[in-house]
Amino acid sequence: MGFSQLLQMDELAVQQNEAVEHILRGGRHLLDLIDEVLDIARIETGHLELALRPVLMADVVTEVVELNRPIAERAEVAVQSTVDLGDSPAVLADRQRLVQVVLNLVSNAVKYNRPGGRVDISCDTTSEGRVRLAVSDTGQGIRPEDMGRVFEPFNRLGADQSGMEGTGVGLALTKDLVEMMHGTLRVESVPEVGSTFIVELPLAVVPDGVRLGTRHGGTGSTPTFRVLLVEENLESLELVERVLSRRPGVVVLAAMHGRMAVDLAREHHPDLVLLDLTLPDVAGSVVLDELGNDPLTANIPVAVLSAVAGGGQVRRLLGRGVAGQLAKPIDVRALLSLVDAARAATGK
Ligand SMILES: Nc1ncnc2c1ncn2[C@@H]1O[C@H](COP(=O)(O)OP(=O)(O)O)[C@@H](O)[C@H]1O
Ligand SMILES: [Mg+2]
Repeated sequence: MGFSQLLQMDELAVQQNEAVEHILRGGRHLLDLIDEVLDIARIETGHLELALRPVLMADVVTEVVELNRPIAERAEVAVQSTVDLGDSPAVLADRQRLVQVVLNLVSNAVKYNRPGGRVDISCDTTSEGRVRLAVSDTGQGIRPEDMGRVFEPFNRLGADQSGMEGTGVGLALTKDLVEMMHGTLRVESVPEVGSTFIVELPLAVVPDGVRLGTRHGGTGSTPTFRVLLVEENLESLELVERVLSRRPGVVVLAAMHGRMAVDLAREHHPDLVLLDLTLPDVAGSVVLDELGNDPLTANIPVAVLSAVAGGGQVRRLLGRGVAGQLAKPIDVRALLSLVDAARAATGK
């Protein structure tokens, strides 16, 4: 996929561009499937870790609506939320996983809708002290005989014939995630009228006087994870930036020279340094030494990018406190999992 993205940056003939679009679409589809299946496997083997904290429902809904805007516009579906930032309840949830849950429901509601249709998102608090989020659509609905199979993995209830892209795993994963957060997910549907998916999660108790921040300004939002990329090659630089733009909350700072990288690291104290070993001014190992010798930067994890994968040079560096290694050409998934792991380690 990285290389398809690189191809796209060239001047391509119309047909070539279409071919690259197909490769990328297929690649993204496969990547989504892999991500979802891996998540399900993690849940089943008890390897998925959640950080349950108070999260403002409105904040999550706002983010999801924004993420869906381009798809909704293309599908001519109006997405409306009555979840108000002013008096929205907080739930006890893992923020990132809750975004994934709401995103799956809203993107289904858009996908299985009709042109001119609408999606309504609302939220209230139940008498049992739970928060209920409802996502309603004006799609074709789900047939009564299919209702029992909606949450089965790989079951698309015949949607494969509709030409609509999908894997049939999204709702199975969504239900697993909700249940891991001590919640429930159910659906009500009237054929030809529409469906409503309802998530219930425990209300978070927020002490008086404490205000939860939102991602859109304020405190307490998911902190930004800053990656300093030290790379001379413009294309690789652009590729890494594009790949990391898939991860909300990740910001890339770039340096093309070793000296500049050291200065940037001292000044901005990034959470991770991705260091190419071949730089125009000094060797990557010099940058590594300078970062390691300065107390300001010594504790920043560094991962090296190197074309000489597995070579002795990298092995020696790994012995000197290098946190990880990525072979070039860069594999998108390897890059993402390295950044995800570094991010998990800092809790950002
Ligand atoms: N809002 C909805 N309206 C109608 N059918 C839906 C809706 N959401 C999901 N479905 C049906 O449930 C199936 C499973 O959903 P999901 O697991 O998200 O898989 P996918 O979207 O990849 O097909 C879909 O293929 C579709 O047939
Ligand atoms: Mg889906």
